[in-house]
Amino acid sequence: MTEHIFLTGGTGFIGRHLTDVLLKNGFTVTLLVHKKTYQGADHPNLNIVHGDIRHPSPWKHILSNADIVIHAAGSVSEMNFYRYISINTEATMILARECSLHDNIRQFIFISSLSAAGPSEPGNPIREFYPADPVSEYGKSKLMAEGRLLNLATPFSKIIIRPPAVYGPCDNAFLPVFKMAVNRIRLVYNHGISEFSLIHVMDLCNIIVQVILSPRLKQDEIFFVNDGEPMHTLEELFDLMEKITQRKTIPVQVHRLLFGGVFYLAELSGTVMGKTHLLTVDKYRELKQKAWTCHSYKLMDLLDYKINYPLEIGLRDTYTWYRKHHWL
Ligand SMILES: NC(=O)c1ccc[n+]([C@@H]2O[C@H](COP(=O)([O-])OP(=O)(O)OC[C@H]3O[C@@H](n4cnc5c(N)ncnc54)[C@H](OP(=O)(O)O)[C@@H]3O)[C@@H](O)[C@H]2O)c1
Repeated sequence: MTEHIFLTGGTGFIGRHLTDVLLKNGFTVTLLVHKKTYQGADHPNLNIVHGDIRHPSPWKHILSNADIVIHAAGSVSEMNFYRYISINTEATMILARECSLHDNIRQFIFISSLSAAGPSEPGNPIREFYPADPVSEYGKSKLMAEGRLLNLATPFSKIIIRPPAVYGPCDNAFLPVFKMAVNRIRLVYNHGISEFSLIHVMDLCNIIVQVILSPRLKQDEIFFVNDGEPMHTLEELFDLMEKITQRKTIPVQVHRLLFGGVFYLAELSGTVMGKTHLLTVDKYRELKQKAWTCHSYKLMDLLDYKINYPLEIGLRDTYTWYRKHHWL
């Protein structure tokens, strides 16, 4: 019999890809869908329940026949700490507490973030045993969720995955970087992020499937993931973009005040319009750090998985998708 997965965040960037990958791997999936308009793909093993994680009544009955819960819902961009806590910390605990009432659930996978661990020292990607020191409200809300989740007594194992920046088809957070390259701009930013880890969304989803299938993951663990390389640089990224787009770029040095100002103004306009913008002051707190890099040995040593999308292949795949769908 196929295992039944209850998935939150299935309508988001990662969740949509994850739903497809889970179905292709033969799982039965029930998606918790927040947006009322979402109908979902037509698949015999896909079920949908509408609701908000913070209000369990409409969805909690599903848990009595779920084997695995994947919690991929969350928010990467909010206007204040309270909202991050509500969506990333409290919602996680509401879900986990409901799950803890069911001993049919064998595994709870929480998609946290590298932001929960905080930035790295330049040239020194972090490992799971390094002390966490988040710099953003987003990262703090994820770290609080991790800590409270691990402290909860549960009949199932809790696997916490901390992805770095995830990119791939359908992602609008990485699109501006491609737009710069297409417009022949090579970003040079000497006051902030210059080293980072990345992962293509398909590798992340396939790794999650391997985590589910692995007989070796039976206890609570935290894992970083990456695309096989712990460290990429802005220079490398734009070199590859030039190759993929076949457009020579011109270096454009951005001043710290201008860079920070853009995020500040974007957040201000979002507040005035009553809309959350991807560019927030909290995001700037992260981008002004020099390095966001992590090693993934701990998980990769346990899984039999080979990365399919090293950076050049992953960027090419994403670029092709953006072009095909007229995002570029
Ligand atoms: N993208 C990245 O680079 C990245 C990197 C590291 C970690 N992560 C983490 O990975 C997870 C997924 O990220 P993503 O990029 O796919 O985000 P996303 O595209 O913004 O999707 C977030 C999902 O969460 C759902 N959601 C939000 N609040 C909810 C609520 N109260 N009840 C039920 N569902 C709710 C959203 O549904 P609605 O749209 O209907 O509200 C959406 O399906 C997040 O937890 C994020 O922190 C992402």
